[in-house]
Amino acid sequence: MTAGHLQIVVCAASPAPDVTILINTAHQQSWTTAVTATPHAMDFIDIPAIEELTGAPVRSDYQTSPGVRRSLPTADALVIAPATYNSINKIALGLADNYAMTTIAELIGRHIPTVIVPFVNTALATRHPYRRAVTSLRDEGIHILLGPDHDWEPHPPGTGNDRRLAFPWTTAFHAAAALAEEKQPRK
Ligand SMILES: Cc1cc2nc3c(=O)[nH]c(=O)nc-3n(C[C@H](O)[C@H](O)[C@H](O)COP(=O)(O)O)c2cc1C
Repeated sequence: MTAGHLQIVVCAASPAPDVTILINTAHQQSWTTAVTATPHAMDFIDIPAIEELTGAPVRSDYQTSPGVRRSLPTADALVIAPATYNSINKIALGLADNYAMTTIAELIGRHIPTVIVPFVNTALATRHPYRRAVTSLRDEGIHILLGPDHDWEPHPPGTGNDRRLAFPWTTAFHAAAALAEEKQPRK
């Protein structure tokens, strides 16, 4: 019996290859996982390694064929990590221009507990569209790991590779599991 199913959406930022840390953390807590990637993130991750770990294909498009119904994943919780400047702005606007964005839009609309972990530098993080996006997503009830309360801040431009090592994968899982438990307590 699983504790829950975690849907992970990976965007195209430097911590993306380390998503295996999140997968392993979830599996250690008896969760199952599946990974969806944005089209750009497909170049950042080791797809066979992730598929081997999760036992599920990494999805980036609808993979429809004639007569096959379009399907979106089910989940008990959603973690979007690392979340890029680009994708955070799109999610806040409700854009659904690829499979990952459509998945996110629909899972949020179904009130699936959602955690976003940005990986955005300080130059981009000062932009008004981004700040508005973070506020808007929080207003919608989405948990964003960002700011002094979460010990996770934007990094200076050019330092992303060093900052990658500190990416809070484990914290993201525990935040998502806590939200899922809050929504649907397990005995
Ligand atoms: C090597 C590399 C590293 C990048 N790192 C970041 C990053 O840390 N944060 C970010 O917001 N964008 C980063 N970008 C830019 C995004 O990949 C770019 O905005 C892309 O369009 C995002 O696509 P997505 O949001 O659909 O995944 C990086 C790009 C490259 C090529």
